[in-house]
Amino acid sequence: MISKSMQDALNAQINLEQYSAQLYLAMSAHCAGKSFKGFAHWLTVQASEETAHAAKLIAFLLDRGGRLELKPVAAPPMDFGGVIQVFEQTLAHEKSITGRISALFEQARQEKDYASEIALQWYVTEQVEEEAHVGETVDHLHAVGDQGGGIWYLDSRMGKRARA
Ligand code: FEO
Repeated sequence: MISKSMQDALNAQINLEQYSAQLYLAMSAHCAGKSFKGFAHWLTVQASEETAHAAKLIAFLLDRGGRLELKPVAAPPMDFGGVIQVFEQTLAHEKSITGRISALFEQARQEKDYASEIALQWYVTEQVEEEAHVGETVDHLHAVGDQGGGIWYLDSRMGKRARA
């Protein structure tokens, strides 16, 4: 049986993953509004990954006999500036999520909740991958700037991301 404190922490993380999905859908719409269909596609796929992250935590919580407590998901912003700013904000958001996952992992360790620690390992690894990929995109965007052909090339490349 999961502790009440870990149950609360996982419920909070589930809400954050759902917020991440909302945030990326809003960013996707913002990019689509600027005709950057590739970046919009990438962000839509990212949003569905975030929904999957929430679902995976929900399944784990229920397997442990925990109680799912869904809360309202905060509304994301509607404006994000240029594409470079969109991905800078994505990177900042992912870094904040990494911090939350690390805190959850630490809590599991302190509570000697080995099952949660092992389940959270997947998220630790996933955050490394997400930060690396988004960080690379930010670097590429800075390299090409937001004018000229380079950004359209990047847009078409981002549009090739496979759906999960
Ligand atoms: Fe679920 Fe992008 O972290």
